[in-house]
Amino acid sequence: MSRAAGVAGSAPAQAPDGVETIMARGGERLRALMARTEAHLDDVTAAAGAPLAAHANATVAAGGKRLRPLLVVLAAESAGGPVAREGGEERMVRAAVSVELVHSATLVHDDLIDGAQLRRGRPTVAATAGRRVAVATGDLLFSRAFAELARNESAEQLKALSQASSALAEGELLQREDAWAAHVPVERYMRRCELKTAALFEAACRLGALNARGGSPRLAGALGAFARRIGLAFQMLDDILDVSGPVERTGKSRGTDLLDGTVTLPFILARERDPGLARIDLRTLGGPPQAEALCERIAATGALDEAREQALAVVAEAKASLPRILPGGRSELLELVADAVVERYR
Ligand code: IPE
Ligand code: IPE
Ligand code: MG
Ligand code: MG
Repeated sequence: MSRAAGVAGSAPAQAPDGVETIMARGGERLRALMARTEAHLDDVTAAAGAPLAAHANATVAAGGKRLRPLLVVLAAESAGGPVAREGGEERMVRAAVSVELVHSATLVHDDLIDGAQLRRGRPTVAATAGRRVAVATGDLLFSRAFAELARNESAEQLKALSQASSALAEGELLQREDAWAAHVPVERYMRRCELKTAALFEAACRLGALNARGGSPRLAGALGAFARRIGLAFQMLDDILDVSGPVERTGKSRGTDLLDGTVTLPFILARERDPGLARIDLRTLGGPPQAEALCERIAATGALDEAREQALAVVAEAKASLPRILPGGRSELLELVADAVVERYR
């Protein structure tokens, strides 16, 4: 499913083995729904009009794991399948597309804010086209996302996506507030992950349930809560990957977070374990080689293992919450999503 290009055209930027397992288990129907989502994504970005469409299109076409649209589809399927009314599947596909577009928009802006050079194994929009184009490309992707979802004519669905979108912005702002801080409490770090990442995962599952036959508000809430935990763990593991690398696997340079002053769980835990690390001011990091060396020091404290344990505990909690809430215990595919999140770290 991923069309992620490799670094310098070599290995894939991500290894979506877990996602492949889900697709294989989901069978032809899941593949067909995801293929429709993919085709619709292409259409929406291509139709956005030149010259911005080129960057928007390239961002989307660069691939990615498509975890969020997959969550929309799986949540809908778990809640009885798309509503039977005419066009029910189409509405679900639109919701899936809108979530991936918001995700893509935030990545374009996030890379600009973070000063990141690589995304999905390719140079970021900010790196190739500069700040102004990156701002406008992200804005375009956001506006296409909401235009797409508006076609579903559901205020509740729009509310779900706009809440997540606001949370994302708040999370990025919180991250900027905490940049270069000598001390960041773990609770504050977790709050940032909830806002930046978990909220959109939650919206994905809510949107899936809202487009499903059996999607009661209670089920939408429960699936949303599951996805929120998965999203939290996903961001925690992403932050570990930033330190552990390697770039061939992540499609992103190692130590990017440290270089832009973002204090994440591995560094928070490592500072507690090694007083020498606690004295380091991230502003004094000269560049990627120093960031890489700091990553090694963090890893040497064992902080990566501890952070990973914490993330895995969150995934386990999410999984444990599932079977009771799904009609007929149809939790298998969603459990595999939880596994795919963990798989990414291995
Ligand atoms: C990257 O998300 C941003 C984070 C929330 C960590 P993904 O890792 O899902 O990005 P793609 O879509 O697969 O590239
Ligand atoms: C997640 O944070 C970004 C968004 C939710 C937009 P990161 O800054 O850690 O994501 P990556 O590492 O750049 O993918
Ligand atoms: Mg980033
Ligand atoms: Mg990151």
